[in-house]
Amino acid sequence: MRHFFIAITITIAMLGLSMAASAAEGELDALRGNVPLLEERTPEPLYPVENQDLRRARAYPMQPPTIPHKIDNYQVDLNANRCMSCHSRQQVEQSQAPMVSVTHYMDRDGNFLAELSPRRYFCTQCHATQTTAPLAVENDFLDINEIMRGWPQSGNDQTTDSGDDH
Ligand code: HEC
Ligand code: HEC
Repeated sequence: MRHFFIAITITIAMLGLSMAASAAEGELDALRGNVPLLEERTPEPLYPVENQDLRRARAYPMQPPTIPHKIDNYQVDLNANRCMSCHSRQQVEQSQAPMVSVTHYMDRDGNFLAELSPRRYFCTQCHATQTTAPLAVENDFLDINEIMRGWPQSGNDQTTDSGDDH
């Protein structure tokens, strides 16, 4: 029994060693890119945040819209919420920003509050700015409209009977 455990320990140790070796050869494709672990890589450039003031399409109706403008140094903490200085109900006439939707004034029981709900106070929990960086990985997300149109052709195998009626 004891020999058995020793054998297992040695096997695990050897596995670990071989993994480290292959990583050192640069086969490890992690976030740091294909650079051997012991080498320092040239850092990626920092891409600018998109600031085009154009609202983007949402991938599905309940998606929190992405932020189309810069939010550098916008204070959101216990004392102030800079986002609400443009997006609150009272401010939109002056700012011409879209008002936070009514869900932002709802508590968890569905009651409408006079003020922003604490659940929606920290905007960047759900809303994110976008940069001009190229895609790190392919994105094959299909909008529901594309799926209903049966595109791409090969991906249409799962159509149900009721689906055929449309
Ligand atoms: C100075 C006013 C101002 C401030 C401050 C501001 N916004 Fe905006 N925001 C706008 C305007 C105006 C738009 C409409 C698109 C545009 O012109 O950029 C907008 C658009 C948006 C949208 C897109 C809405 C949609 O339907 O697509 C989101 C999300 C958003 N802002 C979130 C935020 C968040 C989060 C903050 C704080 C970190 C913030 N905004 C601060 C003015 C502001
Ligand atoms: C817990 C997630 C969450 C937080 C926090 C949150 N939002 Fe949203 N927001 C959403 C979702 C989801 C939607 C789209 C569906 C809806 O309206 O509820 C949305 C929609 C919006 C819209 C578009 C409204 C419209 O009618 O087109 C704006 C503008 C916005 N949010 C701004 C903000 C701002 C500013 C804050 C911070 C004060 C904030 N949100 C905090 C989830 C969130």
